[in-house]
Amino acid sequence: MKEEKYIKSPLNYVGGKYKLLKEILPLFPKDIHTFVDLFGGGFNVGVNVEAEHIIYNDICEPVVKFLRCLSGSDIDKILAEIDKYIEKYNLTKENKEGYLQLREDYNKRTKSAMKFYTLLCYAFNNQIRFNKNGDYNMPFGKDRSSFNPALRQKFIDFHKRINVIDCVFLNIPFERFDFSELDSKDFVYCDPPYFNSVATYNEQNGWTEEHEKKLLSVLDMLNEKGVRFALSNNLKYENPLLDKWKNKYNIHYLNGNYSNCNYQKKDKSQDVEVLITNY
Ligand SMILES: C[S@@+](CC[C@H](N)C(=O)[O-])C[C@H]1O[C@@H](n2cnc3c(N)ncnc32)[C@H](O)[C@@H]1O
Repeated sequence: MKEEKYIKSPLNYVGGKYKLLKEILPLFPKDIHTFVDLFGGGFNVGVNVEAEHIIYNDICEPVVKFLRCLSGSDIDKILAEIDKYIEKYNLTKENKEGYLQLREDYNKRTKSAMKFYTLLCYAFNNQIRFNKNGDYNMPFGKDRSSFNPALRQKFIDFHKRINVIDCVFLNIPFERFDFSELDSKDFVYCDPPYFNSVATYNEQNGWTEEHEKKLLSVLDMLNEKGVRFALSNNLKYENPLLDKWKNKYNIHYLNGNYSNCNYQKKDKSQDVEVLITNY
């Protein structure tokens, strides 16, 4: 299956699953009523899933606000808003001052969704990172980042798809998500920060052992309720809790040729991306 047939998020996420979709999606059940993307991030997964209803969730408020803004909006209006910021701050791949002014304006004045997105487009690696006060703090993406024609097209395609699927956007820590309505027709996909890994969305308060423990217990609870789940992770990170827990379920090795047995032998600094499922 070709990658191009999937929609790619215009949000650049470390750990985004776009490149793995061709391996992950065929492992999902075919008959999904409600699909929950519990750690939705850039929404690369949920936006490409066939289901009657899709629930996106993420703890990062500006990202959720941005996605809500795309849903039900007019594409020309939001592109015009992005273009207005690009013009106002004279944003280019070279104009660091303009970028810093926009960042200051976003942090100190109005935190509008499209201002946030425009900021990301010109930030270093388009990454999302906030300091302890909640201020966006990525440096300028000098010579590399801009709202270029390819990104604009990605944005348009993503917007179109979001407005075709039946989707809601929630902003709840996964610990407080209400799973009570889910049953065996539904499916929960989890792509949490990987324990012991480094990612910008993982810096403030981080992903601790407590989070990991809680998530694994939520998945056990879903399993007992007969709700299907899939958990993404990478076995290269030191994670004794997951190591023990995973053996109760089915482990699918991604990234080509890994099998359970060559994982035991191989150099553990190499990627061992897995999808752990209860079906
Ligand atoms: C690996 S990223 C998800 C990437 C996504 N699957 C994609 O392909 O774009 C993990 C996400 O988990 C979110 N997150 C971290 N802690 C969370 C929590 N306690 N509850 C819900 N979401 C959380 C982060 O904000 C981040 O967006």
